[in-house]
Amino acid sequence: MAGATGDKPVRVGIIGAGAVSDYHHVPGIRLDPRATLTAVADTDPALLEKRKGEWGVSIASTDPLEIATHPEVDAVIIATPNFSHKPIALAAAAAGKHIMCEKPLGLNATEVQTMYEAARDAKVVHMTAFTYRFAPSMRYLRHLMKTGALGTPRHFRSQRFLDWPETSWGWRQYKDKAGAGDLYDMTIHRLDFALDLLGPIQRVCGSVARFAPRVTTPDGKPCEPSNVDDWSCLIGEFANGATGVWEGTTLAKGYNRDGFGHEWAEINGSEGSAVYRLHEPNCLLLGKTGSDLAGIDVPDEFLKAAGSPRDPRQGKPATVFRYDLIWEFISAIVEGRPAVPSFYDGLNAQIIADAVLESHEKRMWIDTPLAAV
Ligand SMILES: NC(=O)c1ccc[n+]([C@@H]2O[C@H](COP(=O)([O-])OP(=O)(O)OC[C@H]3O[C@@H](n4cnc5c(N)ncnc54)[C@H](O)[C@@H]3O)[C@@H](O)[C@H]2O)c1
Repeated sequence: MAGATGDKPVRVGIIGAGAVSDYHHVPGIRLDPRATLTAVADTDPALLEKRKGEWGVSIASTDPLEIATHPEVDAVIIATPNFSHKPIALAAAAAGKHIMCEKPLGLNATEVQTMYEAARDAKVVHMTAFTYRFAPSMRYLRHLMKTGALGTPRHFRSQRFLDWPETSWGWRQYKDKAGAGDLYDMTIHRLDFALDLLGPIQRVCGSVARFAPRVTTPDGKPCEPSNVDDWSCLIGEFANGATGVWEGTTLAKGYNRDGFGHEWAEINGSEGSAVYRLHEPNCLLLGKTGSDLAGIDVPDEFLKAAGSPRDPRQGKPATVFRYDLIWEFISAIVEGRPAVPSFYDGLNAQIIADAVLESHEKRMWIDTPLAAV
């Protein structure tokens, strides 16, 4: 297995040099003195050349597998379209590389099961990029929930409303490339919240819909219509007796909020309610019986990952917590421990997402047991 060690920084290869790598992962690596960006792969030669210069990387290839198995790479970040995650992850695991892979891990839970088993059996660190777990108010909400401050949890509620243009989403709007639309792109993060906060979900009943045909690219060219959802919802029953309701859409006009959209994830417990909101991630709404929800500042210890040198007061709050993903990935490698959230967490979220599609198709509730460890 590629190591991390001693005084040598972990050599990271980024596979997929598009939007999320530039927005989250490269700034995260730059902030972490224990990591260095060594290599990059992208199938688009023009973008690859541009990123080589912008990111200052010497090893570059249009072949993702070359970087996934490169001797000068210890760890890879897979940030390519969803259909390509599995072969890259399997090659990286076989070569003993630690892997952080973007969500959704694959096109369906069967693919993801194979990825999880490969990474587990290769004994590499594996991590799913469930970004919003790292938001300060989500961290604090989790703390309140786990320490009993909210009492017995009764309801989980998640809303993710975006106001996106109705032009083409590129690869994201085709089932063979993305697996699903809003459900896999957005709602899957919120399924992960729920599993992390409240534990296993026993069964779900879900529905999806597509409203926008997306037959024009943003620069006005015609394209094949979308065949994935742009709205998804479900209700679920947790093993601990709580109930959950989730809704997501990219077509909520008027919900721009500086591009961050509306996100609301809430727990109603027997002693109180707590709400995380993406657009104000350093503030948690709290409420007790007879009072109204009111904002409180997230305590300093929850504003960033423990030990990270990041200054949480710098930059846009709804952007900068995303850099903590890398801190967690590199910490797990350096400390020789599993990363959180792992591929196992990515698999369990994917099982629920797949059950939503099945429920919609069959018009019935679907049981959703956790995957075998
Ligand atoms: N965690 C998050 O919050 C978050 C946010 C955005 C995107 N994502 C996920 O990240 C992944 C990438 O999304 P994006 O928005 O950066 O997409 P993007 O289209 O901007 O970038 C993808 C890049 O991968 C390249 N590519 C395509 N096939 C490839 C292959 N086989 N090998 C190497 N490179 C290849 C493309 O040329 C492109 O540059 C997706 O899985 C998406 O769901 C996660």
